[in-house]
Formats: sequence, C-alpha cells, structure tokens
Amino acid sequence: MRKSLMAGNWKMHTTREDACRLAEEVMKHCPTFADREVLLAPPYTVIAAVAETVSGSDIIVSSQNVCWEEQGAFTGEISPVMVKDAGGSAAIIGHSERRQLFFETDTLINQRVKGALDFDLMALLCVGETLTERESGQMLNVLETQIRNGLAGVRAEQMARVVIAYEPVWAIGTGKTASKEQAQEAHAFIRELISKLFEKNVAEQMRILYGGSVKPTNVDELMAQPDIDGALVGGAALDAESFGRIINYQKN
Ligand code: 13P
Repeated sequence: MRKSLMAGNWKMHTTREDACRLAEEVMKHCPTFADREVLLAPPYTVIAAVAETVSGSDIIVSSQNVCWEEQGAFTGEISPVMVKDAGGSAAIIGHSERRQLFFETDTLINQRVKGALDFDLMALLCVGETLTERESGQMLNVLETQIRNGLAGVRAEQMARVVIAYEPVWAIGTGKTASKEQAQEAHAFIRELISKLFEKNVAEQMRILYGGSVKPTNVDELMAQPDIDGALVGGAALDAESFGRIINYQKN
C-alpha cells in the first residue's frame, strides 16, 4: 500500500541556527518507520545545512520551488541540480503562495514539474481552490484544471515520483481546516482524475497529501480517510513537538 508522507513546509522561516536545531529536534520524533516517510522543506539558504543535519536518517529534504533548467540566466531561481547538490531530493511546486503572491501560472508550474522529474527529483504539486471558487461551485473544475495543466506531458513512468498536495487556499494559515469529509471528497476526486489521465494503478500508487491548518489535534482524523496519504504542514511544522505529534499520527 501507499507509504504516507508527512511533510513540513517551513516557508520563509529559519536562519541557519534555527533550521539545524529544528531539524535535530524533528529527528528525535522519527524512529525508523515502516509505513511513513518524513520530508522537510526549508528555505533554499539552509537546504544544505538541514540535509547535513539529517544525513544518515530517512528524512527527505526538499526545496520549496525549482526551475526547469540546469543553469543559466534565471535570476532568483534554483535549479534541480542545485537542489540535489545541496542534499535535497524533492521540490514543492505550485504552492498557492507562489500562485497568488508571485503570479505563477499553470504553464510555468508545469515546466517546473517536468524539470524536477527530468532531474529525478520528487515533485510535490500543490493544488487547491480559493473560498470564492468553492462557494461558487467551482472547486472540482479548479482542481481538474490545475492538475491537467500541471501534469501535462508527464509520462506515466514518471508518476511514481509525483505527489499531489491538496491545499484549499482558505485553510492555509487560517486555522480553518477542511473537514475530513471535505478533504476526502477532494482527494477521491483527484485520484479518480489521475486514473483517467494515466492508469488506475498510477492513481492507486500516487500519494495525495492534505495541507491547510494541519495540527496535532486534527491529524489523526484526517489520516484515517482512505484517500489521504499524508500532510503538508506549514505553521505546526515550525514547532518540533507539534510536528513530531503530526508525524506520529494514529489513524482513528
Ligand atoms: P498551514 O499549515 O500553516 O496552514 O500551511 C499549510 C501550507 O501552506 C503548507 O504548504
């Protein structure tokens, strides 16, 4: 069955010292798990320091975005080769903060996904609707468009390294979590769509994470849903105790 993936997105937080301390503390909450993986996505400046801190453990280190080119005139970008060189093996792509604050489009996000995969990184593609889109009945259309466009041109054999994170924009950093029923509905829809776009077994093997105000108090019920395979955690991932409890969820 699918191994769950518990991911911490540190966003624009932590200097080198904070990052190393946090990574060390998180490690204390990570025994060798048979059924789950842990991923940390620190800012670019501390990817190498975090990778060094967790080396020898099973923790996956990720960047928070990635360019599609190996090198070149792309001021402000980070290449997949640089992520790997720093000790990372994954990239978050299409986060709603990139879409909303930095105007990243589905076309750009698709280039990033293909670039990450071409260089053997795990690609965590984030999708999610705004409150207005949900309230006007557009949720499923929005998810379908973001996924169809985000994964255009991705080959079925590359899908083993794709993870989709469903992060409803209205639940990010607001303290409002999607209910387990709302999250399950979106996840089931995404899995069905992947099975239409690729094959049933691709969909069955692909991990779909939920993100948006995941906390120690709601992780267990979310993780008990059949199509929720992990969490992408923002605020609560900056506190080792909270993230430790999230990693050590128990399905109830
Ligand atoms: P919060 O957990 O702070 O709501 O953030 C979610 C998120 O954006 C993770 O990528």
